[in-house]
Amino acid sequence: MYRVAVIGGDGIGPEVVREALKVVAAAGVALETVDYDLGAQRYVRTGEVLPDGVLEELRGVDAILLGAVGPAIGSTDVPPGVLERGLLLRLRFSLDLYINLRPFNGAPGSLASGADLVVVRENTEGPYAGEGGQLRRNTPHEVATQGSVNTRFGVERCVRFAFALAAGRPRRHLTLVHKTNVLTFSGDLWQRTFEEVAAEHSGVTTAYNHVDAASIYLATDAGRYDVIVTDNLFGDILTDLAGAVTGGIGLAASANLNPERTGPSLFEPVHGAAHDIVGTGKANPLAAIRSAQMMLEHLGEAEAAARVLKAVLEVQDAVAAGGDWNTQAIGDAVAERL
Ligand code: IPM
Ligand code: MN
Repeated sequence: MYRVAVIGGDGIGPEVVREALKVVAAAGVALETVDYDLGAQRYVRTGEVLPDGVLEELRGVDAILLGAVGPAIGSTDVPPGVLERGLLLRLRFSLDLYINLRPFNGAPGSLASGADLVVVRENTEGPYAGEGGQLRRNTPHEVATQGSVNTRFGVERCVRFAFALAAGRPRRHLTLVHKTNVLTFSGDLWQRTFEEVAAEHSGVTTAYNHVDAASIYLATDAGRYDVIVTDNLFGDILTDLAGAVTGGIGLAASANLNPERTGPSLFEPVHGAAHDIVGTGKANPLAAIRSAQMMLEHLGEAEAAARVLKAVLEVQDAVAAGGDWNTQAIGDAVAERL
């Protein structure tokens, strides 16, 4: 029995999380779930984003499953950054979730049909770290800097994770994505670290792509990729693109991992709260279900995780083939296959 904190969140978050929990139950894994009310609604109601006491409680669970957080597009209820930095990034940084793992299997009919790739996104550094600031704000001479933080420690642990992952996959191929021709300081650190760790992994073939070129390859030839390792911001952008070309963001799952297991890891679909489709049944729960599948894998439920993954990919194909689907029907279809 695992203790799982469930943050349904806003918009379609609770709808897709419900299907994910249904599938976990159908896979025969017993969870003791604890619901946490966090996100835009809570912020608007109470002004709280992530109270210290809640963060401390979250440290004690086995895993965290999150739906989506965020206000409706166009609403001014929550200033930009409040939930992103105050909730999501605070969880990633405080729980040391230094890997953001995002798998993609190109659905039939998508631009990247048949592709099978995983992005290992560094999740605690880069421009997300919060370095920088503003001077002379609201004057004609204002200045804003937002530096990209890259530490040998942070880059190396991410690169090592990616090599270990690639070594365990059939193709054993790892591509570093960066912009070493322009970002010569951080790019040099990434490239040297990558090459040093590569020397310890003779079984893994390697490649390097600049991030702009990688965007072309993802759109035109995603099948070339097996595992991609990249920094936090490039990883953010490339994984939306990877989602778009492999069948849509409704399929894109993620695991925010603390590989050292000094605390819980967090599992969430890549998509947002999509307030415009709440209650319509249009939300695709496959991203949330696959995120829960990664949670099972992380918890050590390898056999259940394998069954859920097989079912998710089958249903992904079935949905791509057309027909009359809705949120609940997709969840049911995955559950029935278990
Ligand atoms: C994601 C999201 C987040 C990110 C935001 C909401 C902080 O876009 O998980 O990809 O930029 O990492
Ligand atoms: Mn993103």
